[in-house]
Amino acid sequence: MTNSSNILRLKELKEKNNAIILAHYYVEPEIQEIADFLGDSLALAQQAKETDADVILFCGVKFMAETAKILNPQKIVLMPDVSTGCSLADLSPASDLKEWKNSFENPFLVSYINCSAEVKAISDVICTSSNAEKILKSIPKDKTILFATDRYLGSYIKEKLGIEMKVWKDYCVVHQNFSEEHLLKLIENNADAEVVAHPECSDNLLKYADFVGSTTGIINYTKENSSNKFIVLTELGILHQLQKLSPHKEFLMVNNIEGECNICKDMKKNTIEGMILALENLSPQIIIDEDLRKKALIPLELMLKLSE
Ligand code: 13P
Ligand code: SF4
Repeated sequence: MTNSSNILRLKELKEKNNAIILAHYYVEPEIQEIADFLGDSLALAQQAKETDADVILFCGVKFMAETAKILNPQKIVLMPDVSTGCSLADLSPASDLKEWKNSFENPFLVSYINCSAEVKAISDVICTSSNAEKILKSIPKDKTILFATDRYLGSYIKEKLGIEMKVWKDYCVVHQNFSEEHLLKLIENNADAEVVAHPECSDNLLKYADFVGSTTGIINYTKENSSNKFIVLTELGILHQLQKLSPHKEFLMVNNIEGECNICKDMKKNTIEGMILALENLSPQIIIDEDLRKKALIPLELMLKLSE
């Protein structure tokens, strides 16, 4: 099937099912172009809550689609491929985090949205890379603050806010794999460039950043900033929007330690063919046990309320 017939087919299926396509910036450019809404994790969760579509086709990774389902039990939430994991969600089992939480007195567990529904269910509030500061500032002072799942986002915010906080040990296998050597070479050869980074990057990289923020934060910063050249420390997929929104600016992507473009393989499992099949069959769907969903909803709703 040609590209234009794929697009027509998707349009037909969307109309037939009253469906909306939500996508993250790390999926392939052709999917970004077809999506009804593109965003970072917070914006995608907000959009999933607001939509009046009956079906949400989620092109991202599983924890994002699970978030949409937790917020919308009455809607069908589909993914082109439900095996799209995320190292942060996959590395941090709820049983370990529960034991960790229970080992402190008066704990308050703030979990990064990149976690399983089970981890959300034992958390007191959820945060994303765009609202973590706001959420952490809202926590009552008498609590022992615990932060999971991403150690680099946790340490970055802890230092920035100067707060006492215990940080869990996991990390994103993509963002902790950037080459410091390549970054330094790019900085040396491009003295006029600013460095922009996602807070999941390891601390040895974040120390070089002029701006640290979520994917949407990075896109807005590069668009609004007067600089014409940026060295970018996040996943390759973001380049499409960076170039589209700032066509006259130059973006230099930092390689991983293997000397390759740094990509999230799970995000790339989303394909146009998979999207068509998902809408044709209304499968595969995200299904979450109702008890678990209700528990996971509480900290997610608190996050949305605190982000208003
Ligand atoms: P954002 O919420 O900044 O889009 O980040 C999601 C993510 O998984 C980054 O690796
Ligand atoms: Fe998860 Fe990292 Fe991929 Fe983001 S880039 S979805 S944190 S594995």
